[in-house]
Amino acid sequence: MPSQKISVIATVPSNIALVKYWGKRDPETQWPANDSLSMTLSVAKSITEASVIDGQEDRFFLNDKGFAATCAAKPLNHLRRLRRELGFSSALLIHSSNTFPTSCGIASSASGLGALTLAAIGAWTGAQSWEDLAACGYSMKRLQALARLGSGSACRSFLGGFVEWEAGPSSEAQQINLVANSEHWPLADIIVVVSAAAKPTLSSEGHLAAWTSPLFQPRLALLPERLDRVKAAIKRRDLEDLGREIEAEALDMHAVMLSSKPAANYLLPATSHFLAWLRAERLKSGLSAYFTLDAGPNPHVICERDDAAWVANRIQAEFPQFDLLVDAIGDGPTFGSVPKAENSEWKKSMLTRRQEQ
Ligand code: DP6
Repeated sequence: MPSQKISVIATVPSNIALVKYWGKRDPETQWPANDSLSMTLSVAKSITEASVIDGQEDRFFLNDKGFAATCAAKPLNHLRRLRRELGFSSALLIHSSNTFPTSCGIASSASGLGALTLAAIGAWTGAQSWEDLAACGYSMKRLQALARLGSGSACRSFLGGFVEWEAGPSSEAQQINLVANSEHWPLADIIVVVSAAAKPTLSSEGHLAAWTSPLFQPRLALLPERLDRVKAAIKRRDLEDLGREIEAEALDMHAVMLSSKPAANYLLPATSHFLAWLRAERLKSGLSAYFTLDAGPNPHVICERDDAAWVANRIQAEFPQFDLLVDAIGDGPTFGSVPKAENSEWKKSMLTRRQEQ
């Protein structure tokens, strides 16, 4: 049974990469092969509550259920590593929930591993605020680096807006930079759920195989200039330029995936059908929306937030068989303590917010 009155709650948003992280120079320290850039989201988040408990075994719940075996390895390994590296030993009670449909196939592990890192360190140190965390030696920079060990893309979720993850000249020199905050350019991300099935290849395996692709080195060579063009388009709020770059970028990453050994084919016929439709629709009706893809079959459609309802309606009319998740640019994580007695109230309000969305 839990022996402490206080539990900590971390809320970490998901992010969608516009320039992708694909390939690792060092998997052990999570040093990426290239710089990447993402947009932090506002609706898709992981909310994780942690407290220290007696006993030896962690107790994990995802959406109030035990973790599904296929999704559990990453968080469990990460907790083990954090304990080893930071010198904590207490077992934790962890309740995690996502504000998006929980499936290994839809969202990246960025928000989940980010929230787990923050909540676990909060529970172990007894920190109840960002200031407490900093006083215990956990600066934002250190927290980002620790979250990155759980899942590379998690480090980008520690800032809002447009965020760059710079690989740097050494693993220790990696850093996260704010490119522009969430108010600079209100963009939306409409996720078209072509399939919610689990991925055929785990992204951690795909990252390792990337080096075997004959397209990987040419990709690394062209990325610095692409990143500059993406940053310039963000600065100018130029959706056409941004869209051209992110579509080419997503397809280049999938070309690497398809030409790696072993090859990873994340795309489905329905994905290609959708991408062709979106491109044709832009020409036909001037739809101002562009796709990107992660390691999965579900296109993310990027458009101005003011156009999101119209674009979503247009997609839904053409593809009534697909669910859409409409999200938009947002801010970074939150962290704090909630006395046990207040937890049920907090959970209720979270549920209402989720139902309203
Ligand atoms: C295609 O961050 O999930 O979403 O570091 O092995 O956990 P690990 O990989 P992960 O890879 C994300 C890959 C991507 C592109 C991106 O988010 O940049």
